[in-house]
Amino acid sequence: MSEVSLLLRAPSANRVYAQAAGALSRSEAHWVLGAHLGAVPSLRDREVGGMAGLEVRGATGGPRSEALLAMLSGTLGVLDVQQEDPQDPDRPLLRPRPLPAVLRHPSDLETTLRYTGKTNEQFTALLVNLAAALSARRAGILDGTLDLLDPLCGRGTTLNRALRLGLSPVGAEIDRKDVEAYRAFLGTWLRTHRYKHTLETTRLTVHGEQLGSRTEAELAPDKQTLRAGGGQRLTLLGCDATRLGEVLPGGSVDALVGDLPYGVQHGSRAGGAWQRSPLEVLREAAPGWRSLLRDGAGVALAVNRRTLDHAEASAVLADAGLRVLSADGAFRHRVDQSIDRDILLAVPFDHPRAEELAALGADQEDPIP
Ligand SMILES: C[S@@+](CC[C@H](N)C(=O)[O-])C[C@H]1O[C@@H](n2cnc3c(N)ncnc32)[C@H](O)[C@@H]1O
Repeated sequence: MSEVSLLLRAPSANRVYAQAAGALSRSEAHWVLGAHLGAVPSLRDREVGGMAGLEVRGATGGPRSEALLAMLSGTLGVLDVQQEDPQDPDRPLLRPRPLPAVLRHPSDLETTLRYTGKTNEQFTALLVNLAAALSARRAGILDGTLDLLDPLCGRGTTLNRALRLGLSPVGAEIDRKDVEAYRAFLGTWLRTHRYKHTLETTRLTVHGEQLGSRTEAELAPDKQTLRAGGGQRLTLLGCDATRLGEVLPGGSVDALVGDLPYGVQHGSRAGGAWQRSPLEVLREAAPGWRSLLRDGAGVALAVNRRTLDHAEASAVLADAGLRVLSADGAFRHRVDQSIDRDILLAVPFDHPRAEELAALGADQEDPIP
């Protein structure tokens, strides 16, 4: 196997996302491969035979690096760059490389639901990969043991991705319509695909106060696994994300992934009042979120730069004990006129690899202007 891999980029159904996909997948590979493998491979865009790709030097060989290459959000396939002809550098000898299967369950789990405000699936996969990579328990994304929370889960795009990775995720959503729509979808999907499963909704009550609803699901390929409690679980909390610190056990989350309300299509709700800016949600929710995180956890939050300033958000997160590692604009891409999206990567101040991970941020190519 050669030291050089060419990742063929999956086409994006979303035209606007497709324009940003090259820069985003380079940044994703920088952080994900760098954090998992402890050394940043050399990366460059490379077009071969009209196909857009990302050339990766120095991250091949072991089963872990193969699984990581397969898992990156934009990977369609991987080619081994076997031989470079200095006389003809545009026509390298390429060999398809079989990829390990890193996803379970049919892909329609991620793609069936369509609605205004859905975070696109490829971008969601990227957020999950980034938050997981920052976690001290990052290997858990490959063996199903990573504990993932999306406190703003909408109709479950992140939860569905996590299920496909073999995880047992937790999500929270304040909007009852979204909670009901996702619960109904999941029930139908599980029945249609003939999974052995349980799905139960109860009231969510804390110290006698009713905060909303709690849906617990467990799914397994067969009855025995389900009976033995060996299936994958999913917890969907219909409640305010600012109350999660009271609902979930402290120190139980490895990766927190959230697409913050943009302050445009979605309202954002904090303290019972609908606000335009997501900053208040972040201010109220972040201390509770921090209490749920393990010290070695990773956080990836998608934000709209037009309604959430990087410096302000970083200060709010710092007050809650979280250190932002990514520079302003590190994952910048425009969704439309009112949404200029970016990602904040953060870890608890006590994270054992905080300095090493911060160096990845410092090493990243210049922010996208
Ligand atoms: C950008 S959307 C996330 C969409 C989600 N990733 C999906 O694909 O369905 C932000 C979500 O945060 C929810 N939200 C806003 N304020 C909230 C709060 N205080 N607690 C819980 N959810 C909240 C909104 O209702 C919305 O569904």
